Amino acid sequence: MEVIIQETANSGCLLGAKIIAKKIREKPDAVLGLATGRTPEKLYRELVRMHREDGLDFSQVTTFNLDEYVGLPPENDQSYRYFMNEHLFRHVNIDLAKTHVPAGNVADLHAECRDYEKRIQDAGGIDIQLLGLGRNGHIGFNEPTGSLRSRTWIKILSEQTLNDNAAVFGDSESMPKHAVTMGIGTIMEARQILLLAFGPAKVRAVMEMIEGPLAAVCPGSALQEHPRSTIVLDEPSSAGLRFVDHYKWVDRNKLTWQRYD
Ligand code: GLP
Repeated sequence: MEVIIQETANSGCLLGAKIIAKKIREKPDAVLGLATGRTPEKLYRELVRMHREDGLDFSQVTTFNLDEYVGLPPENDQSYRYFMNEHLFRHVNIDLAKTHVPAGNVADLHAECRDYEKRIQDAGGIDIQLLGLGRNGHIGFNEPTGSLRSRTWIKILSEQTLNDNAAVFGDSESMPKHAVTMGIGTIMEARQILLLAFGPAKVRAVMEMIEGPLAAVCPGSALQEHPRSTIVLDEPSSAGLRFVDHYKWVDRNKLTWQRYD
């Protein structure tokens, strides 16, 4: 794992945007795996700025989002499709037909899950997958103790996740308790991973993900096996790590081609 500790969440998001923009410039028809949540909001804002001011071109880009709540139609302002339209898609020159978010409101969710996997395959696989990290270590909506080889499927959200997301929903009653999510096996097939985790609430999950054992109790720890994963943290989220000095040493001693800035 490449662990990069930035001073603030803001600088972490700017770095994350640079990594994604680099991919798009190298490969204009890149397939991006995208994430929702509060963590990547500023990263999307920066990508929009790069599009407007630096001409970052999304016209050939394809995207696949990680997950969607079951039961929410795309026009519901709590749906992840709505989030993506608002934070990125409607501000850049992306072809909406090339943006994929699992449908959470179709009659046959099993068929939707199988089809989502097929659509990823048909697009040639994901070049870079953006991830956030749940306070309990989840990635996508893959909650602790689920299979580390799971595929896109319908998952039951943990009580902790419901509580964490209740603030966004306003009230926890109307919050869906199920979601369609890429599985950990699906995520692991992305050619590159970029995970962002910021703030003191993520300290424990970050410790378990990077320095804990590879274990289903922390789904993020599966990334220890990924050949190319970059974890971007801020000072507060990295506070519990044992090898902070080592990560910073590595970062200072990177060769030019290993740097993103
Ligand atoms: C949510 C999403 C995840 C996200 C995580 C962290 O439940 N399903 O994809 O990464 O929880 O959210 P946040 O970035 O708001 O802390």
